Amino acid sequence: MITIAQEQPDDHWEVENLYDLCFAPGREALSSYRLRAGVAPVAELCLTARDADGILAGAIRFWPIRIRNPEGGTCPALLLGPIAVHPTHQGEGLGGGLIHAAHARIDKAGPTRILLVGDVPYYGRFGYGRINGVEMPPPTNPDRVLGRGDWQAITGQVCPASDL
Ligand SMILES: CC(C)(COP(=O)(O)OP(=O)(O)OC[C@H]1O[C@@H](n2cnc3c(N)ncnc32)[C@H](O)[C@@H]1OP(=O)(O)O)[C@@H](O)C(=O)NCCC(=O)NCCS
Repeated sequence: MITIAQEQPDDHWEVENLYDLCFAPGREALSSYRLRAGVAPVAELCLTARDADGILAGAIRFWPIRIRNPEGGTCPALLLGPIAVHPTHQGEGLGGGLIHAAHARIDKAGPTRILLVGDVPYYGRFGYGRINGVEMPPPTNPDRVLGRGDWQAITGQVCPASDL
């Protein structure tokens, strides 16, 4: 049995360790981390998945971001990630469970744009598709910039929420 719950302050280092285990070394050098530096994650969207023994099996976090258009206007969005599932639990639906649980919380608040950098074959099943109008901090492969929600009219640079 897996329990999904909001991440608590005491979970912090356990979640960091899970991310260290699941991602390549130097994950914090990824361009997406520039959007997170000095900005608090969205607490109610940071979730943990624990097994029946209370052992951490997966975690997801979200950050607030803004898109700055060429005219200087901005619009808010969410950055999904990091998300990771412990190797012993991968392929059991936990990643999907975490994403769906976060979406349920997000959708309660009304239409919200969500951005991530990832693989469309995985995230496509959760409503994410390639978006062309926004520019992530370099270096980011544009083919991996995916969005959920109405991104049609949104163009510009993706910035940390703290910049604006
Ligand atoms: C990506 C990750 C979170 C998925 O979690 P999970 O619990 O294993 O995924 P689920 O059980 O919900 O889904 C499993 C399915 O997704 C597929 N899948 C997993 N990662 C995928 C990827 N990167 N691209 C395409 N498909 C992927 C699996 O092949 C499986 O397919 P199936 O349903 O056809 O058998 C997990 O594999 C992980 O932690 N990976 C290492 C860290 C990472 O890459 N995080 C994401 C960064 S964008």
